[in-house]
Amino acid sequence: MLVFATSDKGGTGRSVTSANIAYRAALQGADACYLDFDFGSPTAGAIFQIHGLARGAQAGGLHSCLHETGATPLEVDVWNDSDREEIREARPRSAGELVLFPGDEGGGEFAATPAAIERCVRLLARLDEEFDLCLVDLSAGRSFATDIVLEATRAPELGSAIVRWLVFHRWTRQHIIAANGLVYGVGGILDNGVALGHEAKKLQNGLRFVRTAYVDPDSPSVRGLQPPQIAWLHNTDRQLADLASKQRLGQTARLGTVPLDPVLQWREQLILDEDVANRKVANLETTQAFASLAKKLLDTASWEGL
Ligand SMILES: Nc1ncnc2c1ncn2[C@@H]1O[C@H](COP(=O)(O)OP(=O)(O)OP(=O)(O)O)[C@@H](O)[C@H]1O
Ligand SMILES: [Mg+2]
Repeated sequence: MLVFATSDKGGTGRSVTSANIAYRAALQGADACYLDFDFGSPTAGAIFQIHGLARGAQAGGLHSCLHETGATPLEVDVWNDSDREEIREARPRSAGELVLFPGDEGGGEFAATPAAIERCVRLLARLDEEFDLCLVDLSAGRSFATDIVLEATRAPELGSAIVRWLVFHRWTRQHIIAANGLVYGVGGILDNGVALGHEAKKLQNGLRFVRTAYVDPDSPSVRGLQPPQIAWLHNTDRQLADLASKQRLGQTARLGTVPLDPVLQWREQLILDEDVANRKVANLETTQAFASLAKKLLDTASWEGL
């Protein structure tokens, strides 16, 4: 399965949520890989805590592979190579592979040339055979990376691949309107996809929204606020829910919600069960949300038409 993670705005939580989904999918037994297609800012190595990869690989990453050489890109075994001891030492026997394909340090955006698209098709076709889940983190907004994968997924070599799109957004007016534009607007994913020969209904049925860093006005975390503040949160939450459903990213189009987590507010990282149970720094609801997203993503029954 190929999953393309996108968002209109930057800083939505697209990368950290995608990385945690890949991690939870691996814990659930799926062979998962994460491809850093955020070509302008290839920092996924920091989330997986891979030494020397915080800004991308020195050589042989996805930029070199897709933009220059077509050579097999560098792959990093997160279970073995993470700086975080608990990740290296606590791989359950039942877990699947967890592999990171980093970009190159200093690499930037590059155009969707026929050569880049052809290399992308070859890479995704190979990885789709090797892994149960290939999570591809795209750049924010309308990007070359999005153009490349929209073109690549039309290729006959990827005709039998299951293709899904996750659109990440925060719970604000601006993010909701922006996410709507990215999917349904002029030059958006559906518009561009159809112009490239994708079938509109199929593309749309494979697409869901993910709401990130959500503060539930009923959650214990807001109890310290003043009553007028809590009332305001409730009221605004209702207005946003109304806006989201009018903008076609309401409950039925949503794969899930990740609550605001205190750890993620200050650090982009994988949240381990250890962080919840022993260190008690992250919330159980956060890991449950990631696990639920991974499960729903891989479960075909939850993907019947919108
Ligand atoms: N559920 C959450 N709770 C609290 N903070 C979060 C949550 N999800 C993400 N964040 C934080 O929000 C910030 C942005 O997240 P992230 O870098 O994953 O977003 P992005 O959409 O990939 O951004 P960019 O467009 O820059 O690549 C990070 O500091 C991250 O830790
Ligand atoms: Mg990112």
